[in-house]
Amino acid sequence: MTPARATSPSIPLPHEPVALLGGLSPARFMQRHWQKKPLLIRNALPDFVPLLSRKALFSMAADDAVESRLIEHKEPGWTLRHGPFSTRALPPLKRKGWTLLVQGVDTHLDAAHDLLQRFRFVPDARLDDLMISWASDGGGVGPHFDSYDVFLLQVSGQRRWRIGRQKDLSLAPGVPLKILSRFEAEEEHLLNPGDMLYLPPRWAHDGVAEGGDCMTYSIGFRAPQRGGLAGELLQRMADEFEDATLYADRSQPATSTPAALPPALEAFAADGLQRLLAQRQTLACALGEVMTEPKPRVWFDQPEGVWSIGALRLDRRTRMMYDDRHVFINGEGFLAGGADARLMRRLANQRCLVARDVGKASGAALALLQDWFEAGWLKLNEPG
Ligand code: SIN
Ligand code: CO
Repeated sequence: MTPARATSPSIPLPHEPVALLGGLSPARFMQRHWQKKPLLIRNALPDFVPLLSRKALFSMAADDAVESRLIEHKEPGWTLRHGPFSTRALPPLKRKGWTLLVQGVDTHLDAAHDLLQRFRFVPDARLDDLMISWASDGGGVGPHFDSYDVFLLQVSGQRRWRIGRQKDLSLAPGVPLKILSRFEAEEEHLLNPGDMLYLPPRWAHDGVAEGGDCMTYSIGFRAPQRGGLAGELLQRMADEFEDATLYADRSQPATSTPAALPPALEAFAADGLQRLLAQRQTLACALGEVMTEPKPRVWFDQPEGVWSIGALRLDRRTRMMYDDRHVFINGEGFLAGGADARLMRRLANQRCLVARDVGKASGAALALLQDWFEAGWLKLNEPG
């Protein structure tokens, strides 16, 4: 049983300069760097203590509920294996050129989830996960680019990052990883523990561990692809759409080209799609449900203790967001207005509620909170 926390980490203030961003305020960072240009931050987290030891990271990689990969570079080739890995299956620590990557650590460890809260100057809908890598001397994943924004926090050991925009994005053939075949660096930085590098999408990078025992945390963001998102929303909206109107063709003349599709049928289909898309509330619901859907490997634990009206906090795995009329939690949407909506929005933003606020909730809101407690989505937050 993990000890309960009295409060959740607070949300960064937009206009307050922070060491995390090299003395920039989140507002300035978003204006100048986000999706635009890299930022190297020396001493972003000066006294940061690793959230877990190498041994603990290796045992996470042995768990089949955790997504992990092992990448090894032996001239001239690369190998990639997917976990789980028993510790004995990993190469010896002294062997050069290998790295273990563990994905979604924030869904397994409260402290990792807390670290991500420092980055909540970016909407939750964009936050993806915390990946932790451990590398032996010379280890890395090769020169590549990602489609998403990332903060690369050096936690132990040293890593040399070479970064640059690329004209030539051709990939090395016959390699199980996406490795740029003609990577050219524009900048080079050696990162020490506490240093951090922000990279916008499509900035190529190559990080090589220097001297071994190198741990890097990647705070990764996600961005939906327009076509994929539209398809998913359309499917959900179609499930809710009830329009049994039948196509009618009273003025259809006799035809001598019976295989030709009637233009009126195409117009009928287009009209149906337009009516479906005009359901703005259904669209808003579908979007909130999609964005709060838990990740595929996420399971919630049985509740600890018995439900009672008191301080609450969201489980680290819970995704909760809202719009003007709804609150969404773990893929489910609820209409909310007035004081209950304000309470739910506070819960979504702060990820916790004090007992006094919970005590003021309506019967309907309390019933929902109890359901979510029983599903393991939120926890009682008794000071430990
Ligand atoms: C790593 O931590 O080795 C890889 C991170 C990245 O390149 O995105
Ligand atoms: Co990368």
